[in-house]
Amino acid sequence: MKKEINTIGVLTSGGDAPGMNPAIRAVVRTALARGKKVMGIRKGYRGLIDGDIFEMDSRSVSNTVGLGGTMLYTARCLEFMKEEGQRKAAEMCKVFGIDGLVVIGGDGSFRGARALSRHGINTIGVPGTIDLDITCTDYTIGFDTAVNTAMEAIDKIRDTSTSHERCSVVEVMGRDAGYIALWTGIINGAEYMFLPERKNISMDKLVERIMENRKKGKRHNLIIVSEGVGGSADIAKEIEKRTGIHSRATILGYLQRGGSPTAVDRMHASMMGAYAVDLLCEHKTNRVVAYKHGEYVDFDIEEAFKMQKDISAKQREVSKLLETR
Ligand code: ADP
Ligand code: F6P
Repeated sequence: MKKEINTIGVLTSGGDAPGMNPAIRAVVRTALARGKKVMGIRKGYRGLIDGDIFEMDSRSVSNTVGLGGTMLYTARCLEFMKEEGQRKAAEMCKVFGIDGLVVIGGDGSFRGARALSRHGINTIGVPGTIDLDITCTDYTIGFDTAVNTAMEAIDKIRDTSTSHERCSVVEVMGRDAGYIALWTGIINGAEYMFLPERKNISMDKLVERIMENRKKGKRHNLIIVSEGVGGSADIAKEIEKRTGIHSRATILGYLQRGGSPTAVDRMHASMMGAYAVDLLCEHKTNRVVAYKHGEYVDFDIEEAFKMQKDISAKQREVSKLLETR
């Protein structure tokens, strides 16, 4: 017989992402509406092991929908990577009566969710990361805000770069994935993008393109480097050495993870948070919520890990067309 879920826990784990707060809010309010008790767990799996857990009511999430970061805090917890840590965490769920858990985080956090499911805690993952690198879903909470923040910052860099007729090399986040780089490359008008997914990165081609564009009257240059490729300072130095054009590197860094979530992030976060609670109410476990072809769906975690995803071929094609002048 399937066990009844009475108390739902919620935690955020791994790198924070704008939109985690509306996701928490949706989990709390949907669970309360379904007659469940809700427990908030601070600092991800760290707080679960330590019992940093408190009861949440509807008011606990008032005025949080527009806030960046995560009101539950987040952490990376090495202890939880080991069987003993997972056992302690599952034990703590039992102490607090948590029989269903929503984990909002990235790929690593989902591996943790799978471990807890194996320990008998019904667990559902909600994709929250600015990197957009979770293979089973077309959307991850935080991406839209991060890419808008990066876009605005790069527009500002372009202003000063143009005034000084310089070349700007801007490094954006994304860990091993080039989504933020590809998007900002297209929407900010970069001449070249260093993407981890791009196999034929060529400094010669880049220098040739910069020189050609200068001959055509272009007064500034913008190059986007994805964190997964890195080395933006060296790339800027090399460009300056080979072209004679003053070049400056900017690493956008953590500002991309902050800020009030955009409408898109708030909407996906709200829908996915509510969806996760409904899965728990249907006695589901070891599943992740995803957004696929315009619909909210769910996958078995194991199946989700096996799925492959690449940056869009069409976007790559268009980015190449737009890079060349
Ligand atoms: P993200 O969830 O953003 O990918 P991490 O990869 O840092 O971030 O994972 C967040 C946390 O999830 C880790 O600190 C750890 O506690 C847990 N975790 C990651 N990988 C595993 C794993 N293979 N097994 C169990 N827990 C894991
Ligand atoms: O996963 C989100 C992310 O911001 C990545 O883009 C980046 O590589 C990583 O987290 C940085 O993590 P930390 O906060 O541990 O430095």
